[in-house]
Amino acid sequence: MSARIAVFASGGGTNLQALLDHFNRPDGPTPARVALVITDRPGIGALERAERAGVPWRVIGVAGRPEEDVVHETLATLEGEGIGFVALAGYLRRVPADVVRAYHGRMTNIHPALLPAFGGKGMYGVRVHRAVLEAGCKVSGATVHLVDEEYDTGPIIAQWPVPVLPGDTPETLGARVLRIEHRLYPAALEALILGVEPNAEALATAFCGCEADAPAPEEIRRALGLD
Ligand code: GRF
Repeated sequence: MSARIAVFASGGGTNLQALLDHFNRPDGPTPARVALVITDRPGIGALERAERAGVPWRVIGVAGRPEEDVVHETLATLEGEGIGFVALAGYLRRVPADVVRAYHGRMTNIHPALLPAFGGKGMYGVRVHRAVLEAGCKVSGATVHLVDEEYDTGPIIAQWPVPVLPGDTPETLGARVLRIEHRLYPAALEALILGVEPNAEALATAFCGCEADAPAPEEIRRALGLD
């Protein structure tokens, strides 16, 4: 039986879409399916994407509610849908510790920089890319990591480099990183679910060949030990 993934999102949901395109594609077996989408607010792009894909969704509001209520509703929803893995994809709330503990080693996040640099509370969206440019970095990238009880500090599963180019703005850099995110997240989550060992040599060489506009899907899959 394939694993059931819940994706948590707060915005447009392009990473959700990449996960749907990969795991829910009709043409072939994958080890898992996106079976539920959870957001903290109504009326966002991620919900439209869930609806279009025919995936059940639920809005679990967080603002102004006691944490124990949120924990109870979240765990009941996840357990009711038989969810085995949780993927945060642009989810802007801190997930309550009791939910993180219930999915220990089975909850992932994607961050649009090379952690542990440029992470932490308040580091999201365009702020991350602005900070990377202000620091004068020549390389940025994307990181998929396990979620712990802090922001952006859990063990790293996979990273991929993205060059910073002369004349970059936070927006142009962000768009280049996002293209890699869409390749990296499905592959890293698939590797976690299958329990495969990343190919350390292929991962290391990725940092020597970071090309401006190459999403490198095959290289990512090879580096993660999937092909
Ligand atoms: C992505 O850059 C992701 O790394 C970060 O939030 C952004 C979400 O974008 N955590 P989208 O909603 O998936 O388009």
